[in-house]
Amino acid sequence: MKSFNKRVIQPRGLILGKFWELVDYLDSMTRYVESAFVPIGYDILLGRIVGIPLWDDTGARHTVVVGPTGRGKTSLAALVAVLSSLLHNATVVAVDPKGDLWSLLSWSGLAVHVEVESSRDAAYLASRILRALGESVGGIVVVDIRYLSEGEKYLHLETALSDAFSLLQGVGRRSLLIVDEFWRVKESYVVRKIVREGRSSGISLMLVSQQPEDFGPDVWSNSSNSVVFGSHDETYLESIKRLSGMASQDVSFIRRLGVGEALVQYHGSRRALPVRVLQAPITVKNPGVGGTGSWGRVRYGQAADSAAQR
Ligand SMILES: Nc1ncnc2c1ncn2[C@@H]1O[C@H](COP(=O)(O)OP(=O)(O)O)[C@@H](O)[C@H]1O
Ligand SMILES: [Mg+2]
Repeated sequence: MKSFNKRVIQPRGLILGKFWELVDYLDSMTRYVESAFVPIGYDILLGRIVGIPLWDDTGARHTVVVGPTGRGKTSLAALVAVLSSLLHNATVVAVDPKGDLWSLLSWSGLAVHVEVESSRDAAYLASRILRALGESVGGIVVVDIRYLSEGEKYLHLETALSDAFSLLQGVGRRSLLIVDEFWRVKESYVVRKIVREGRSSGISLMLVSQQPEDFGPDVWSNSSNSVVFGSHDETYLESIKRLSGMASQDVSFIRRLGVGEALVQYHGSRRALPVRVLQAPITVKNPGVGGTGSWGRVRYGQAADSAAQR
């Protein structure tokens, strides 16, 4: 919002006849319009919508999502998958080691399920993903490997990522590759390659994991957005501070975040916004159509309340 205000004020350059200011203004305005945001929730303090930019005119931007189990990471990934597809017509491939993403996306009617139950299935994965992309309404494909043994998961995740990456490279501009439970492939060379090369191919990566260290300094520095869920663990807080470069006062806010709340930090900024993430109608633990808690209605009320208290 700050940068938006700046852009509103900038036309004064016109009156002053400052040509370069005008050029700069038009350039930033174009960027503003062209970068594709996905709204994820409301600012806890101000009640305003907060989103993450996943694509811009130079390509894609990567996102790390980090937090302890049960904080709402997978729910956020599912929300971003649906909204990327609906708002930006993006093609989404989600790699789902626990099957949680599929439980959250099946209701949407936008996603197609590719279940990998054996090594034989994995061998034909690329063609199955391709077929599924053709069949899915929203262009979302969930590669569900929950039934593979731990050893097989390790082996086939690499294949799944590499297949998904080459397919998405063929798709053209906006696409999104989500990897839940990223710690399983943190050493993967394919991931390093995607982190480096995905941006120019328009492939936005969303990597979801429990520990800040799971990503490594290269992934942190190549990511434009970080979404940090709450925790009281001192090692976690210390790692976030070191790897994300987040300002100390914001790091201490991480202790106060509840379930479904996170700090959102954009590349190049040390400050982070406290956000209450919109909740999709169903949850992993409660797979039914949600009531009052659904789609941010109550969430918004709460955000507005907390803003009003100030
Ligand atoms: N935005 C949210 N607002 C409120 N509660 C949430 C939200 N997202 C998730 N939850 C709750 O937290 C639980 C765990 O969510 P999940 O996405 O599976 O967490 P994680 O992937 O971090 O383990 C869900 O079952 C749901 O009840
Ligand atoms: Mg999860």
